[in-house]
Amino acid sequence: MHGERTIRFLLDGEVHTVAGLSPTTTVLEYLRERLRRCGTKEGCAEGDCGACTVVLAELAGHGIRYRAINACIRLLPTLDGKALFTVESLASADGDLHPAQRAMVECHGSQCGFCTPGFVMSLFALYRTTRNPGDEDCRQALSGNLCRCTGYRPILAAARRMYEYPDDGPGMRDAELRERLLSIRVTVEKRLNAAGQTWIAPVTAAGLAQALASRPDATILAGGTDIGLWVTKEHEDLPEVVYLGNVAELAAITATDGHLEIGAAVNLTDAFTALLAEYPDLGEMTRRFASPPICNAGTLGGNVANGSPIGDSMPALICLGATVVLQNADGTRSLPLEDFYLDYMKKDLRPGEFVAAIRIPRARPERVVRCYKIAKRFDQDISAVCGAFAVEMAAGRV
Ligand code: FES
Ligand code: FES
Repeated sequence: MHGERTIRFLLDGEVHTVAGLSPTTTVLEYLRERLRRCGTKEGCAEGDCGACTVVLAELAGHGIRYRAINACIRLLPTLDGKALFTVESLASADGDLHPAQRAMVECHGSQCGFCTPGFVMSLFALYRTTRNPGDEDCRQALSGNLCRCTGYRPILAAARRMYEYPDDGPGMRDAELRERLLSIRVTVEKRLNAAGQTWIAPVTAAGLAQALASRPDATILAGGTDIGLWVTKEHEDLPEVVYLGNVAELAAITATDGHLEIGAAVNLTDAFTALLAEYPDLGEMTRRFASPPICNAGTLGGNVANGSPIGDSMPALICLGATVVLQNADGTRSLPLEDFYLDYMKKDLRPGEFVAAIRIPRARPERVVRCYKIAKRFDQDISAVCGAFAVEMAAGRV
């Protein structure tokens, strides 16, 4: 059974269909309460501790991209068309551990074990995406996982050790997984109605504009790294959600001579990769912005559209002279990002309008850019101060 009113994803490589569930069910709730896959843990329920880390695989060009995400704040319908791996997916049918699990055992990377499935999943994502990571890559890959008893040294040792073992799981090779992902690719707008809530996931920008024209008060969802907390912490019902993650036009990064354009559905990991290629000096901001699972889900468009004063990307984008592209059923317009914010959490958004893209001017040799973040912790903390500066130099003078 599948169609416009169901979602389908791969779980351990097998097609899994969901219908009739509240669209704000989180992936973690679904795993633990419906499927009784209780290996994935709940710690903070806000994307901070990594106990709930799972891995998503999706089509990317001619290959597959594996990424760790936080199941606690991820809404279930966003899995449509993707493949989900949980800690239960990793060991082979005859019980052979995945290299990430084996290395954790051998390096004594676990004591109480509550954090362990999350670490294992972050390691699994690293194993599948990076062949030869350095110490800093390993640290960065685990920066979204907290452990309260083991200490990180043995876990980091496991991150190195796992590469000594061949990957025998989980189950299928990438070519086969790709075939199956192609078979469940999302090509039509989905509408889910359940528990008094409506979920609309258009596949074109025009469809998105249309959906919002008739529902200007709907919640626009991209990565959900903030909206997920409205559900888990504020217990909000979100009667109407319009999801932009399936709109291919918004998932593109394009570069012209004048600027870099980052679509609203591009996640922070990809957006920062593009931004850093242009402005390497923004590394302080991008490295400390959030953990990999958060950056794999959250979007630059979402950070801008949300307009939270603690969003770290805005100082950098404003100093670079970024503009925001807005769209609704009447057309598109763009305005300087600085003018987009009218007051505390108040934005220049017309009814039915959504952030379609962020345009960032290309680097120029005469412009020097620096960005600094001061916070109580190095990783995963709100800035006390985030400062970004762009200085134009001419003949050695500012
Ligand atoms: Fe802590 Fe999800 S439960 S990040
Ligand atoms: Fe106990 Fe990590 S092993 S929290």
